[in-house]
Amino acid sequence: MLMRARRVAPSILSADFARLGSQVDEVLAVGARVIHVDVMDGHFVPPITFGAVVVGAIADRVHAAGGMLDVHLMIERPERQVEEIARAGADNITIHVEATPHLNYTVAAIREAGCTAGAAICPGTPADSLNELVAQEALDLALCMSVNPGWGGQKFIPATLDKLSRLRERLPLSVALEVDGGIHEETAGPVAQAGANLLVTGSAVFGSDDPAASYTAIAAAAGAD
Ligand code: DX5
Ligand code: ZN
Repeated sequence: MLMRARRVAPSILSADFARLGSQVDEVLAVGARVIHVDVMDGHFVPPITFGAVVVGAIADRVHAAGGMLDVHLMIERPERQVEEIARAGADNITIHVEATPHLNYTVAAIREAGCTAGAAICPGTPADSLNELVAQEALDLALCMSVNPGWGGQKFIPATLDKLSRLRERLPLSVALEVDGGIHEETAGPVAQAGANLLVTGSAVFGSDDPAASYTAIAAAAGAD
């Protein structure tokens, strides 16, 4: 199962949107199978990116390659968007624990919509914030932000390594641990060592002159499939 494999997940946030399809094809061609999609609403985080329309625009090519769409919702009240994002072709939907008081309800709604369910925590949010959802067996993925959400190209926060180790110790084996922000050739190895199995990388792949080569180098540094 892709979610529990060690995988680098390119984030389309840093892609060239005038040729989004071919940018996604470039990384699929060199083995990327988890494509990360950053939805931002201008409220939970200042920028506005895109929503279900863009998920739907790339879903077929990702699925045809045997890949999955990993949708990261940086939006307030994500429960209102789950159905539409799932219908557009998402395979995993991750919400932020800081973004709704209705966590159990929302992750249950994600599974009911046919997707796997993830919960994300910002750098200032304790790892323990996921305890209840874990005890309720409500999660398929935990996302540990290694930068403050909202923008690509930020610097990796080093204390994330310890947080990842603590999270991995507490999570059942069935739950994936994803890290997001500031992942490149130098940080990929350490986060994988700390226990992360899904490594999101935006600017280091799509901000480079050769996304395919950058993907391959980061995957090698992570010891990823
Ligand atoms: C940031 C997003 C990330 C972003 C990572 O809020 O959640 O997925 O694309 O970008 P880099 O890899 O450039 O830090
Ligand atoms: Zn993300």
